[in-house]
Amino acid sequence: MAGGGFAASSGGGTEFEAKITPIVILSCIMAATGGLMFGYDVGVSGGVTAMPDFLKKFFPVVYRRTQDPNINSNYCRYDNQGLQMFTSSLYLAGLTATFFASYTTRRFGRRVSMLIAGVFFVTGVILNAAAQDLAMLIIGRILLGCGVGFANQAVPLFLSEIAPTRIRGGLNILFQLNITIGILFANLVNYGTARIEGGWGWRVSLGLAGIPAGLLTLGALLVIDTPTSLIQRGHIEKGKSALKRIRGTENVEPEFLEIVEATRMAKEVKHPFRNLLKRRNRPQLIIAVALQIFQQFTGINAIMFYAPVLFSTVGFGSDAALYSAVITGAVNVVSTIVSIYSVDKVGRRMLLLEAGVQMFLSQSVVAIILGLKVTDHSDNLNHGYAIFVVVLICTFVSAFAWSWGPLGWLIPSETFPLEARSAGQSVTVCVNLLFTFVIAQAFLSMLCKFKFGIFLFFSSWVLLMSFFVFFLVPETKNIPIEEMTERVWKKHWLWKRFMDDDDLDEEVGKKNGRVNGYD
Ligand code: GLC
Repeated sequence: MAGGGFAASSGGGTEFEAKITPIVILSCIMAATGGLMFGYDVGVSGGVTAMPDFLKKFFPVVYRRTQDPNINSNYCRYDNQGLQMFTSSLYLAGLTATFFASYTTRRFGRRVSMLIAGVFFVTGVILNAAAQDLAMLIIGRILLGCGVGFANQAVPLFLSEIAPTRIRGGLNILFQLNITIGILFANLVNYGTARIEGGWGWRVSLGLAGIPAGLLTLGALLVIDTPTSLIQRGHIEKGKSALKRIRGTENVEPEFLEIVEATRMAKEVKHPFRNLLKRRNRPQLIIAVALQIFQQFTGINAIMFYAPVLFSTVGFGSDAALYSAVITGAVNVVSTIVSIYSVDKVGRRMLLLEAGVQMFLSQSVVAIILGLKVTDHSDNLNHGYAIFVVVLICTFVSAFAWSWGPLGWLIPSETFPLEARSAGQSVTVCVNLLFTFVIAQAFLSMLCKFKFGIFLFFSSWVLLMSFFVFFLVPETKNIPIEEMTERVWKKHWLWKRFMDDDDLDEEVGKKNGRVNGYD
């Protein structure tokens, strides 16, 4: 989820007999709605906050500032805690809900958790679209956030457990692709609804999220729970017949036995989060956490959340600003498709490093242009320069979308060993949502305080993270998950120390009668 959470890639598991059955197709549709819903919520807030009628109703102070010709610095027009809270509350709620979702997904199953997500989404959308005051609006966003927390935990897990092995890895990036499509969809809707007369266009923007929300709820009612989830909760026979229905064949014995064995082993891990802190899992943990922090400090969500505001800051009218947001949204989708094709050919490191250079250059040039104040008599950029800024932002977004966007999620999901994967995934999602919240809550104030310097701030982070990748992130292209420790970590110039120490631990553990990895 995106962010959210994402399906663990198979990394080359055994292939069992399986047909693409209606249930599998339904599951892919659910992946689409889960990702779309998240993306739509990311994209929709920026557009409505640039709509005068929305501002007039909920943020009159900001509205007056946007209308005041005497304010000659565009940068500070939108600096408002409430406005930032409208955007950011969703991520804080999502972060909190992830903890509960982690419990319900284990205790009551994936399907029930998806249903809970759907119900949160539907009620959140209703409150948002019908909002009469700021409280109602923010409570609606919080409910949507709870939906995000549950969906990002349960949908990817559901998918990875239901998909035949050969399409499992692809679903990972598909989830990210759906997020970007959701963002683009929201940008397009905002562009359209801004034209509605009568001051209720924003209600349509917020209300249209009801479509994926409704589909997710309906889908959760129609699907059966995954075999793994059923077996884990002791429903062995039900699990077996679910597997037969999903795979469309009676011949499921080998896969069934493997699931039984995997769930038995998973049950032996008594303290999954403590297990995650073991020396042998620390490199993966550090990399997963760092990737999430760096991913958010690229500044991507400053663009995704506030593109229309940002574009009005450089001098576009509200209409052109919304239109420019559609362009960045489209660039985001197309470039994510590029990553699907290149990730296993070019490799993770190459993509991350190339994108680092591209993002650093585009952000620095934006900062220089804004800093040189190539403006007309107000604080607006000359038109040619304003368009150049949009082009540079698109260059930045494209680099992010074929690298840090999907890889920020893919790398953690493929580097943790099985016994630490699900806990690692929860930590990854939480850290991501936490830093998404930070950016959402701080960006407009930072823009006001640092002005063009904010782009230098983000570009410095990009530089730092590129060094981090260069020295510390190993290449994991074409390496099956099961062989990751031997082929990657034990050979890494720095991380191998953790692995060696752990072998020592193992020896000591054996002598003391413990089995390593399981407390
Ligand atoms: C990634 C990020 C998310 C961002 C999205 C933009 O999924 O985790 O925060 O909004 O990319 O495409």
